[in-house]
Amino acid sequence: MCGIVGYVGRTLDGRALEVVMEGLARLEYRGYDSAGVALVGPAADGSAPPVAVAKRAGKLANLRSELENHPLAPATTAIGHTRWATHGGPTDENAHPHLGGPDGRLALIHNGIIENFHALKQQLLADGVTFRSETDTEVAAHLVARAFDTTGDLTAAMLEVVAHLEGAFTLLAVHADAPGVVVGARRNSPLVVGLGEGENFLGSDVAAFIGHTREAMELGQDQVVTITPDAVSVVGFDGTPAEGRRYHVDWDAAAAEKGGFRSFMDKEIDEQPQAVADTLLGRTDAAGALVLDELRIDEEALKRVSKIVLVACGTASYAGMVAKYAIEHWTRIPCEVELAHEFRYRDPVVDDRTLVVSISQSGETMDTLMAVKHARELGAMTIAICNTHGSTIPRESDAVLYTHAGPEIAVASTKAFLAQITAVYVLGLYLAQLRGGTYADEAQAVMKELHEVPAKIRTVLDAMGRVREIARFMADSPAVLFLGRHVGYPVAMEGALKLKELAYIHAEGFAAGELKHGPIALVEPGQPVFVVVPSPSTEHGLHGKVVSNIQEIRARGARTLVIAEEGDESVVPFADEIISVPTVPTLLAPLLTVVPLQVFACELASAKGLDVDQPRNLAKSVTVE
Ligand code: F6R
Repeated sequence: MCGIVGYVGRTLDGRALEVVMEGLARLEYRGYDSAGVALVGPAADGSAPPVAVAKRAGKLANLRSELENHPLAPATTAIGHTRWATHGGPTDENAHPHLGGPDGRLALIHNGIIENFHALKQQLLADGVTFRSETDTEVAAHLVARAFDTTGDLTAAMLEVVAHLEGAFTLLAVHADAPGVVVGARRNSPLVVGLGEGENFLGSDVAAFIGHTREAMELGQDQVVTITPDAVSVVGFDGTPAEGRRYHVDWDAAAAEKGGFRSFMDKEIDEQPQAVADTLLGRTDAAGALVLDELRIDEEALKRVSKIVLVACGTASYAGMVAKYAIEHWTRIPCEVELAHEFRYRDPVVDDRTLVVSISQSGETMDTLMAVKHARELGAMTIAICNTHGSTIPRESDAVLYTHAGPEIAVASTKAFLAQITAVYVLGLYLAQLRGGTYADEAQAVMKELHEVPAKIRTVLDAMGRVREIARFMADSPAVLFLGRHVGYPVAMEGALKLKELAYIHAEGFAAGELKHGPIALVEPGQPVFVVVPSPSTEHGLHGKVVSNIQEIRARGARTLVIAEEGDESVVPFADEIISVPTVPTLLAPLLTVVPLQVFACELASAKGLDVDQPRNLAKSVTVE
């Protein structure tokens, strides 16, 4: 939540502002309630003018017009912020940067929540400080400005202040009397360094500077970083020198562009075959056996695991639900799935034979991060499934299995979800292989099937014409229901979530078996209901049960939209619309059946004229609890 960019270079021209505005455009998915920039740099005559600030409520476009109407003088140093409001509404005054000190010579931006801001603010008010906003951030701005007045050094000032702050935060500060320096601090909130030549960058994630450098540096927890055009230095909050981990970003600026698609979401849905293929890449040896050396985790400890708990939020938690069906089947290890924010605040039965698997696209979701920390405190082994290198959750876990979906810019998750499901399959099959037993032999055969899935997703994507028509036709629907059983249940949940968040339509996903226990009361003539049907080859009569459920709702007038395996004739008499997907083993079906539901939600929202990439009230990474 909130996007942060910092830049420092040598030339006194428009580059600092240009770089920061470009970074903000790439980070806007993290929050779009308001945006602002602050520029610092010596004037052409060498004097140190005050910090120049421009900020506006609303999307970045408002800030752009403000800058066109009131251009700022060229500078060497800049910070920029795009906000998801926490303390104080989305107004011009509450937009960042915030100025500190009576003469406003310091500007500061913030991502996170300063939990003890109230007490600090009371103290500052008692000292006669005047506040210009309702934010927690302004407290930090005044404190750093004061500390600068006594230390004369921005890094020292930041170090002095962070010692008094509680909560989660990334802070960036610039000062009129320290041109050519940006200082950042991070605790439980993201910040990465971009390493340039004669210029350096800071960003909430690498997208902020990917157009300028692919060399990055990961910062640790509780560290302060200082960038100048030629140097980057890192110290811990206690002042001891530290080293960031350098890495090369394996995607480029083009990956963060729309590439001719109507929206990032359309592009990301289309990239799903690649996301799945890339997540499978390099995870088998020449003989087809799974190799996960990258986990760097004690194999003996993994063999002893007696329980797996999957923790995640939102869409990622539905990947966890799919994992439960698959991993229990392949490994016979009991699996639980729990929303990370619920796991965190109870007293779960976890010990050193419990494996806690967190799933997170961003690697920054605070609820999931806290659940991981809780699990470690309780002695569990932790593995993160994550899409973002350099993010916090992998660093706080014992091991990480990266998904390779590439940058996901649209706020609502699509390709990262498919990559997460793929990664949990890989993990489950690896555990099955490692532990031996009945299902170990299945692992290679399932991997073979998985390698065929990307082409099958492409087949589904190529046949989405009718789904798009249905979506446009249903743009005025007040409510849509989604039903599924077994792995179709999390798919139904995800279909409903996509429709809620993209199209603002009331949508509910149910386990189809639950229908007669209550939800069927919602069905009235004309009610659209999507039903995810398992393959007719699925064991235990599951397919027949779902077909009966379709008949039950059809008998009550529902309009049935049925996602079924190609050639499944048994659904034909009861379906108003049939959306066919290629045959795959039952456990792998979510990788195909969810795709029409994503396309449906995206198309319907577009037909309503909504911004599918930046739905209202949401932000890409939820870095506050
Ligand atoms: C919905 C969506 C969210 C995220 C959730 C977790 O489309 O994107 O529900 O899945 O906020 O985010 P990550 O995966 O970054 O931890």
